[in-house]
Order: sequence, then structure tokens, then C-alpha cells
Amino acid sequence: MGPREIHSEKIEEQIARTEAKHSIFEDEVRKMPIPVCSVFIQKSGEVGPALFKETDIILPLKNPERIEKAFPHTLRQNRNVVLEAFAGEPSQRVKGRRVGVLFSGGPAAGGHNVLAGLKAALGKDNALVGVRKGPRGLIRGDVFEISGKDVQALLNTGGFDFLGTDRTKIQTPEQFEKVKETVLKNKLHGLVIVGGDDSNTNAAFIAEFFEREGVRCSVIGIPKTIDGDLALGKLLPISFGFDTATKIYSELAGNLSQDAASAVKYWHFVKLMGRTASKITLEVALQTKPAVTLISEEIAEKNMSLDNIVDAVVGVITERRLKGINHGVVLIPEGLVEFIPEMRTLIYELNKVLAEYEHDIRDLPTLKNKQEFIYPLLSAQSAQLMASLPEEIEEMLILGRDEHGNVKVSQIETEKLLIEKIRYRVSELKRHPDRFFGKTGGKIDAAPEQIEKIKSMSFSTQSHFLGYEGRCAKPTRFDAAYTFLLGLTAGSLALAEKTGYMAAVTDFDKGGRVLALPLVALVTTELRKGKEEFVIEKSLVQTSSPAFTVFAKNRERWAREDFFSSPGPIQHWGPTSKQLPICVALEQGYEDYREFHLGEERPIDLD
Ligand code: FBP
Repeated sequence: MGPREIHSEKIEEQIARTEAKHSIFEDEVRKMPIPVCSVFIQKSGEVGPALFKETDIILPLKNPERIEKAFPHTLRQNRNVVLEAFAGEPSQRVKGRRVGVLFSGGPAAGGHNVLAGLKAALGKDNALVGVRKGPRGLIRGDVFEISGKDVQALLNTGGFDFLGTDRTKIQTPEQFEKVKETVLKNKLHGLVIVGGDDSNTNAAFIAEFFEREGVRCSVIGIPKTIDGDLALGKLLPISFGFDTATKIYSELAGNLSQDAASAVKYWHFVKLMGRTASKITLEVALQTKPAVTLISEEIAEKNMSLDNIVDAVVGVITERRLKGINHGVVLIPEGLVEFIPEMRTLIYELNKVLAEYEHDIRDLPTLKNKQEFIYPLLSAQSAQLMASLPEEIEEMLILGRDEHGNVKVSQIETEKLLIEKIRYRVSELKRHPDRFFGKTGGKIDAAPEQIEKIKSMSFSTQSHFLGYEGRCAKPTRFDAAYTFLLGLTAGSLALAEKTGYMAAVTDFDKGGRVLALPLVALVTTELRKGKEEFVIEKSLVQTSSPAFTVFAKNRERWAREDFFSSPGPIQHWGPTSKQLPICVALEQGYEDYREFHLGEERPIDLD
């Protein structure tokens, strides 16, 4: 056997050792210490549950008349008072409790550390029970006991795969009965729902139902979603997963800016995940300083049409071209189309037509037949807009439906739609310069040689969608700490038999303040498809907010010249490992975003 083969055998062995989540990296991150807020440090010095007391913060109800009617039992109990944790041990050690936990909705980095935090709060005297595959598993009663060994192996790792998740909405009386059955059969004293706005609305309803039915089971929500739209001022700065996702997208967007400036021929159009709010896009813009960033909330506020958006982007492209810069990055939020007034109307009309004529449309054999059927049923403005869209987008609008039969808005390739429209406008600019350049009538003032420059410009594009890549990564140091603390908070609340609360941690710059927010106070009512529904209001980008203001102050400079920066890959050790999202630091009024403080770091031993 030659020396070469011996080497390869050794490396083959090394490779085999890294199988099944044992990469060198994964093994190292499991050992990483986690900061723990002082309220969770017991007299013995061990990490354990905290106790809770009422604060003088009472949250106002958003729609008192409707909410009081829907949640009388919960309101009687918690009176919408915010609770705060303090360090202390109950007079009698709590033993024999069983607390269930499930993930709901899209994955977000840090879910496994929620389990670790829960396990640390419950200790060896109480059991943590996992629910497989989200709310669907809860209805089916698909549960199992989670051991310390399980959790130790999951510590600081990404994904939701240990339990799985789904998007089932618990709505019908039968579903509520099934949930009760699961809780009673498995003797659960607590149920922790890790989810976004919909899942936490569900948690509020389950808590109310249990109170009404006399089921003694605490229901606690945990704020999760990469979208960052589950937030409440100083009380709830952000949901978990946002930091990791935005750091991954920022690395990639930074790389694309670098590529654009290196290849000097491409405009990269990057759509960023975030179903409704543009919070992800705003954070990535603050991190990377691209040439163009579209923020849906601003577009809606300014009532901008698709053409206005196209004009604005083309304006930047031409201005840069005149400076000799023929490249750049355009950031586009996933939810954009629903914020463009005329697109919103078109989608609304299409949903109505698709619902009313579902069978007729389905039976028509070709897309062309379907178009001919649908067009006369739309308003003149919507029909005209539809006709102006690229064929693939039109097809997506007609054929792509979600499980409720509606247009699948999040699947619309907005980045491609914009590229098509902008490409056409650029070609018009080149073919008819007199329509766009001149000294009067809002035209672009350019010298003849500059016009020649525009006429000779090439416009090459690449489109990207950054989404799923950011949801299941190993959590950043911040998300790892935040989720562990949220788990500790939820576990403590369950042991203290509190129900109908959302676990919250705030003051990321001062060692962390641990709170419990009454879920009912977050719920409001909204008209959805003509029906009043209970929802937790999404926290959207506010154009008056500090984060947006900083962005708006700088974006014109970033448009005119290359000011991009590459924040680089996520560091788990090293100088950038403790950064907070910039927009969170700005919104919360912190002095610095470069280092969070959530308590003293501790090695975690749960086995
Ligand atoms: P959650 O709010 O449930 O965490 O999901 C967020 C999200 O990642 C959105 O950003 C995105 O639009 C959506 O989920 C994608 O959903 P799916 O996983 O069903 O494709």
C-alpha cells in the first residue's frame, strides 16, 4: 500500500466521523457557552427557572369590545398586566410537571436552543415533551419525551428538524377538542408554542379555551420568525431567527455587490424573504449599502405605481452610467407586489374571479383560454396592468394558487418582473432619448456626449432569491443566547402556572430584562376576505423610525457611487460574533450594535 492510499484512508475516516451532524464545526458549536441573564442564576450558581411578579405596565386592548368578548377568562386572570422575572426559588420545589413544546410555521435559527432553555428551566424533576410536526402533531397527539442527552446534542445547532413544523391553523371546535385530548392524555401541565403572529394568535385562543374548559395547562408563546414582524417596541424588540437570516443574506448581498463591482457588467436583482414586512430588506441594506433598496411600506405610503418604481430604478441606473458605473445591486422585499396599489387591486380582483369561477377556469384547457375568460371580468385598469406583465408572471398569477385558492403572492418572481420592465424602459431610453432627456418638463438634463453614453449602454442582469438559505443555519451568538433565554422564560412561566403569555427578553444592551407579555393584548381584529379575523398585528417598517431614517439619509449617496460593504460570513467566535441587527439597535435606542450583553457566559450541561 503506497503512502498516498494511507493518506486517503485517514481522510476517509475523518470524513466518516463528521457524518450525521458531526462536522468539526457542529461539534465545536455544541460546546459554546451561552450568556444567561442574572434572574436565571440560582443560589447554587446553577442555571434554573426564575419567578415572576407583576409590573405596573398594563397593555391596552386593541379592539376592546371584540377582544373582551373573545377572551373573557384570560382577561379575568391576567388583566393584561406585563410580568417581570426575578431571581428566586419557590418555597417548594416544583416536581413532576410535564411541559409540551411545538414548532409552528417557517423554521428560524435557534429553535433547538429554545428546547435547551426549556430543559434547563424544568430541570431533572420535570419532563419536557416534544410535539412532532407542529400543530398537526398536537391535534394527532404525536408526542415523545425529550431527554437531556437529546437536547445536549442539539445545543447551538440550526434547524427545526428535531421536532419538525407545519402551518396547520387550529380553528375548528373539533381541532380544539383534539388538542385538549392530547394535553389530558399526556398529562401536560404546560404547552409552549414557538411561532409567528398566526401561531401566537392560536396560542391565545388555546389558552382561553383551556381556561374555559377548566384544563389546567399553561399556554406560553415564543416569538419566532425570520421576518422580524413580530415585535412590540421596547417590550419585544425582535423575534428570533431574524438576526441569523439577515446576517446570511447580508453576506450574500455583500458578495454580490463585490461581484458587480468586479465583473463591471451586471446589475444583480436580489429578492429577499419576508412575506409582508420589509424589515429583512432594510437590515440587509444597512449592512451592505447597495445602489437601490425598495421598501414596500414606503412604496405603499407614497402610493407608487409599478411604473413609478421602474422609473426610480432606471433613474439610478442612468445616473450611475453617466458616472461610468454600469453595475449595482437592487434589493427587493418579497412582499413588494402586495404594497403596490394597482397590483394589490389586481390580486384582489383575481382572487374574487378565481373563487367565483373556479370550476369554469379550471376546465379551460389552455392558459390563453383562461386569459380570454378572465380579462373581461377584471376592471379596465387591472386588465391593462395584467396585459402589461411578462407572460410568466401572468401565468403565475392565474395558475399558482395557495391552499385557499388565492394567488400565491410570495411565489411571484418580482425580481424578474422588475428586470423585464426595467429592461424595456432602458431600451426606450436608448431608442427615444428625446423623450427622457432635455432641460424642461422633468426630463434628465444631460450633455450630448452623455446621451451618447446612455445610448451605448448595455444592461445585463442576474436575478436571485435569498430565502430558504437563511432559516436553518446555525444560530448567531445572539440568536443562540436569545432563544436559550426565551426557553428559560417559557419554562419558568409554565412552572409558575402562568397562562396566556408570550415569553420576552428585552434590553439586549444591559444584561437582558425578562418579561411575560399578555398574548391577548397583542391580538386585534382585521378584515380578511370580507371576514373579521383575530390576528396579531404585524410590525411593519415605519418610515418615521430611526432605522428607516438612517437608511433614507444615506441611500442617495449609496445610489450615486459604490459605497457597498461586505459584512462577511457570520462569525461565531471573533470580533463580529456578538453583533446585534443594526435596525434593532437603532429602534431600541442602543448606543452600539457591535456587542450585545445578555448576562454572564456559562457552559451548558443538560445531560
Ligand atoms: P414564519 O413567519 O412562519 O416564520 O415564516 C416566514 C417565512 O420564512 C416567510 O419569510 C416566507 O414568505 C414564508 O415563511 C415561506 O413559507 P414556506 O416555508 O411555507 O414556503
